[in-house]
Amino acid sequence: MCGIVGYIGKKQAKDYLLDGLESMEYRGYDSTGIAVLDKKSINLAKVVGRVEHLRKAERENPSKGHAGIGHTRWATHGGVTKNNSHPHHDQNKEFYVIHNGIIENYQEIKAYLTKQGVKFYGDTDTEVIPNLISELYKEHGDVQKAFKAALKSLRGAYAIVMITSHDPGNIYAAKFSSPLAIGVAEDGMYIGSDAMPILPHTKQVVFLEDNEGAVVSCNSYELFHIKTDKSIKRPTELLEIEHEAAEKGDYPDFMIKEIHEVPQTIRATMLGRLRADEGIVKLGGLEEVRDQLDYIDRIVVLACGTSYYAGLVGEYLLEEISNIPVEVQQASEFRYRQEPLSRSTAVLVVSQSGETADTIAALKKIEGSGILTLGIVNAPGSTLARMTDAGVYCHAGPEKAVASTKAFVAQVTVFLLIALHLSKNYRNFDKLIAELDSLPQKIEEVFAQEEKIRKLAEKYSTANDFLYIGRRYAYPLALEGALKLKEISYIHAEGFAGGEMKHGPLALIDKNFPTFAFALSNDLDEKLVSNMQEIHARDGKIVVVVDEGKSEAAKLSEDTIVIPKVSEQLQPLIGVVPAFLFAYYAAKRLGRDIDKPRNLAKSVTVE
Ligand code: F6R
Repeated sequence: MCGIVGYIGKKQAKDYLLDGLESMEYRGYDSTGIAVLDKKSINLAKVVGRVEHLRKAERENPSKGHAGIGHTRWATHGGVTKNNSHPHHDQNKEFYVIHNGIIENYQEIKAYLTKQGVKFYGDTDTEVIPNLISELYKEHGDVQKAFKAALKSLRGAYAIVMITSHDPGNIYAAKFSSPLAIGVAEDGMYIGSDAMPILPHTKQVVFLEDNEGAVVSCNSYELFHIKTDKSIKRPTELLEIEHEAAEKGDYPDFMIKEIHEVPQTIRATMLGRLRADEGIVKLGGLEEVRDQLDYIDRIVVLACGTSYYAGLVGEYLLEEISNIPVEVQQASEFRYRQEPLSRSTAVLVVSQSGETADTIAALKKIEGSGILTLGIVNAPGSTLARMTDAGVYCHAGPEKAVASTKAFVAQVTVFLLIALHLSKNYRNFDKLIAELDSLPQKIEEVFAQEEKIRKLAEKYSTANDFLYIGRRYAYPLALEGALKLKEISYIHAEGFAGGEMKHGPLALIDKNFPTFAFALSNDLDEKLVSNMQEIHARDGKIVVVVDEGKSEAAKLSEDTIVIPKVSEQLQPLIGVVPAFLFAYYAAKRLGRDIDKPRNLAKSVTVE
């Protein structure tokens, strides 16, 4: 979703702005723009489309100046038009603002400004901000005072950065609920809505907290509290993150590259943690809270989308291996529930980006309650990683495709490691550890069938609907498989637990409504086969994923994908790969924009 960059320093601002926007492209956006301040004039460039189009516009008409702001917009209020894209300015073109989030009371502010004679050119909530600041500037005659006064009137979520011709030596920033960071370097100050754009320039970063604003010059920053105006002293922190650039290499899309990275992702996630030779799982991130963990008798997992499905797999793993009761909830629901939590409950958030607004809000809800908060997060230094008491990073590396693949696998691997780490007398402990060690090799074998899966996906790409079914560990796989297909191919797909078929979904089945079934070996084999029989009897076509040696399910199916056999607890890690490939090739056949599917964003930073 929307991305923010800002710069003030010795260099030409536009270079950082364009590179920074490009590094956040994966988050998803529909339009982009920059505003660059040169002495007293501000040059604005905006396009509907990609940063490459903005670069082209900049080559033709370059912005000059040492301070500037840039934005990638994912439309919320107002259509995808150049007018609605950021930066936005006041009617006199003196104050330019970029904004992530939603100003909830913008209608009220707009009505007030309209009464003052302000004319608006677009439909966004953001446009009220520069106009409000401009009005307040008339009253105060001072940019800082006007900026601070305007912030006090805003309700909602925001990360805001502003430049103005009235104060060319400073950039102004503020945040509530949406992340914002300032990178401090010799050659200037680098602002970003996450650390990605900043990291190539500096690792010295200060993160703004909620209700904080900043006045940033070439070589210093001053923080203040929005409500009290009190100045805040906070030194920079050193981000222990390596800048990892992700390139497509020889792959046509990031998604297929990331699917192929699944085996190496599992290796990276386990590195130094799974000590197969010593028979232990060591998780440094949980060391500090080890004593507290001993008293935990319930874990509530909070997450959204694919991370939520990883949480559902985690529920099975933690309950079976560590014997701890687990409940998984969608963060978007949890945040509005009146649910009593006891102090012996731990809350575990799961997130690839670490910036998902609903998950952040859910975690905020329990802030200060004394409840232990843990994280399974991929993006280092992200908001959720910083907010939790302790956690385990996924180490999946940057995930650029909007559809999450390798991050799901990394999240499930972390759940498995945590479950083993917390287990006391799990009977299959040694077996699982040994098997986990050799799992990446087995997943590599699945890619030997990629061509077959491609053909199957193409064959079924004409379907309008798809059902995904599985039982127990394969049930979350059915949900994840269906999500992947619908989000990138736009084929309607739903996931169900096999046992639920008779309770409704079976009504849908006919020869035009195919099913993707996970029939991997476990002690419910016969039950899933009965569910498949019911589908088969109604002329429903089935594509089945089975493991070696399973034949009953294959007999009922039109098409079969065979994968190596592993223990049931590891099945989600290997079984999901054919589902990823199936969704990818179906979408490819339909000519979809796979890495940036319509209406979706990588980092969902608004509610
Ligand atoms: C699906 C997908 C989304 C995310 C969800 C949560 O492929 O990518 O469903 O999983 O938006 O995002 P994170 O994990 O960043 O909190």
